[in-house]
Amino acid sequence: MDLQLGGKRALVTGSSRGIGEAIAKTLAQEGVSVVVHGRNRERTKRVAQEIIANGGKAETAVGELDTDEGAKMVADLALSSLGGVDILINNAGTFSMGAWIDTTAEQWVRLYNANVVSMVRMIRLLMPQMKESGWGRIIQIASTDGTRPYAEQPDYAATKAANINMTVSLAKELAGTGITVNTVSPGSIDTVGFDEILFKLAEAQGGGANLEQMKAQVLKEMLSNPVSRLGNPLDVACLVAFISSPLAGYINAANLLVDGGWTQSVN
Ligand SMILES: NC(=O)c1ccc[n+]([C@@H]2O[C@H](COP(=O)([O-])OP(=O)(O)OC[C@H]3O[C@@H](n4cnc5c(N)ncnc54)[C@H](OP(=O)(O)O)[C@@H]3O)[C@@H](O)[C@H]2O)c1
Repeated sequence: MDLQLGGKRALVTGSSRGIGEAIAKTLAQEGVSVVVHGRNRERTKRVAQEIIANGGKAETAVGELDTDEGAKMVADLALSSLGGVDILINNAGTFSMGAWIDTTAEQWVRLYNANVVSMVRMIRLLMPQMKESGWGRIIQIASTDGTRPYAEQPDYAATKAANINMTVSLAKELAGTGITVNTVSPGSIDTVGFDEILFKLAEAQGGGANLEQMKAQVLKEMLSNPVSRLGNPLDVACLVAFISSPLAGYINAANLLVDGGWTQSVN
């Protein structure tokens, strides 16, 4: 299937590794010019270089999205290097690990800023030129935690619920503009970020377990799904590429799950 993405321009936040990296590479394979973004300059450069070595088009933008200045710098870099942004993938996000009692009010505020307000900043900066061009795609990467929170990581789950909620409001705001807004909610995806959480979990339980054992145990006890495996970043990237495409113009304000069926729902 030709996704008709050739010539489009995308900014994928947090694409220096993990899910964002897979999204940036998948879009580039479909002919999209991408801006790879991260905080770590080396990792960000590596992803862009790999895209270019594979025949794709990539630029880089390095910066924090937690502040107005940082986000504006990233948006300006994307706009100047690509001449415009047609597709914004709001993927950058940070995990948390604590229980309710250990998670301070300040940590809630910090995570809300990192996982929600950072996305809002990018939307506010890039939406006007999408409106002018009469076409656009805005995709938030949330999480199944947003609708099915655990007792742990309450602050993280709440930020992901906010991502899902803001998508619907924004889709209504952008009615008739040619811009669609959707959420993709991954289940458990095997990334470095995910591994870091497992390590912390192992530490909290007294350490000792190796990573592969942890993954098998977590899959059996907490994340069991009918596909019987963790997800990989490409599982998410393929869906994101489709909903970024002109073919997906009737998919709007949706929260699409990529979780192997972990969320049992008959809608
Ligand atoms: N992995 C999962 O199981 C899973 C499940 C559901 C949802 N998600 C969501 O998917 C997204 C990506 O997850 P991942 O597992 O790929 O994470 P990851 O491996 O930790 O990668 C996170 C990426 O986001 C960037 N980033 C994080 N906070 C940032 C900030 N404040 N400003 C700028 N860049 C920032 C990082 O940049 P640097 O590395 O350059 O610092 C990195 O490129 C997140 O929104 C996460 O909540 C993940």
